[in-house]
Amino acid sequence: MAQAGAAKPVRILVVGAGAVGCFYAARLHNPPYTVVSLVARSNYDAISKRGSVHLKTRSFGEFDYAPASLFRRVEDAAAVPDKWDYVIIATKALPDISDDSALVQPVVAPQTALVLIQNGLGVEAPYRARFPHNVIISGVTVVSAEQTEPGVIVQNRWTRISLGPYTDGIGSKEGRETEGDARTTAFARLLGAGGIKDAEVHPERMLQMVRWHKIAINAAMNPSAVLSFGAGNATMAQDPDASAHLLACMQEVFRGAEAVLGEPLSSKLASAERILESTKRNTDGRPSMLLDWERGAPMELEVILGNPIRLARAKGVEMARLESMYALLKLAQRRRREQESRSRL
Ligand SMILES: NC(=O)c1ccc[n+]([C@@H]2O[C@H](COP(=O)([O-])OP(=O)(O)OC[C@H]3O[C@@H](n4cnc5c(N)ncnc54)[C@H](OP(=O)(O)O)[C@@H]3O)[C@@H](O)[C@H]2O)c1
Repeated sequence: MAQAGAAKPVRILVVGAGAVGCFYAARLHNPPYTVVSLVARSNYDAISKRGSVHLKTRSFGEFDYAPASLFRRVEDAAAVPDKWDYVIIATKALPDISDDSALVQPVVAPQTALVLIQNGLGVEAPYRARFPHNVIISGVTVVSAEQTEPGVIVQNRWTRISLGPYTDGIGSKEGRETEGDARTTAFARLLGAGGIKDAEVHPERMLQMVRWHKIAINAAMNPSAVLSFGAGNATMAQDPDASAHLLACMQEVFRGAEAVLGEPLSSKLASAERILESTKRNTDGRPSMLLDWERGAPMELEVILGNPIRLARAKGVEMARLESMYALLKLAQRRRREQESRSRL
């Protein structure tokens, strides 16, 4: 009789070994059941030299995560004989700069589920177009994490991640159990085994509502923080004029969401007024777009502003405030790039 072999481990590859990628990789890595490898870029040498990523977390204390394999390029990860069960993409979503769906193509096999843990709207569309038959899991996290030096990740607070299958963005196939639902639930269980107790699984449409809801916050706060010369979230929320602006921005996004999804956002999600109230108390909140601007890195303008504006416009809804901020910041970013290239000459 054939001897039953040990079950094969679940094999996960993380592309985008920054704050979010390393945090969730470290929690998912649970050998011999789940083994997680990394594709690292600027922090490759630091992780390779130490043999691990060092994490300082509020939720799990301080610990090291030694990736099962560390790759410098996606092509190197494609060269290993076993296929990847999950490929997590946790790069910044910058479709104006790079199409990361093409980047991961070499590591995507028919059984590979793609897990996108990124901010923004419409991030899944290029992956759905390139991989029409693969499971795509859309992930929205509220973790507050940063890479303070190469290979050192600090998680300041929260672990929650909302997950849902992605087919066409409006869940037109919802109602019958799909492979996407099953793989999403299985992935959330892996996170649960790693101590992430608030990995929430949603049906596709609800997950898109969570995305729109987070975008209401990001599209209001992030560009406003840059345009106000670095005001933090609480400072803006406490200022009467800035607070009225933030409220109007969030209401624009809520209207856009309703037009695109065909129904208002779930009443389970906080109203714009409640978001503003809690923002007043979050005195250390500084949006990621502001941090990117300050360090001269590209901002996620297309997925936080451009895509919501275009999706809503296609349904006849204009977002005047978002459109103004989008136009101004795109110009600011372009002018800075031009200045930088002139000064290099
Ligand atoms: N940080 C948070 O608390 C937080 C919270 C919620 C949502 N998010 C969202 O999560 C996503 C990731 O954010 P993050 O804060 O983790 O960003 P991050 O720290 O900048 O990490 C992104 C990583 O992706 C890598 N990368 C980019 N392009 C690559 C390529 N072509 N090949 C290999 N590696 C590549 C970057 O490498 P390099 O260092 O070489 O550029 C970097 O290590 C974003 O969409 C963000 O908005 C973040």
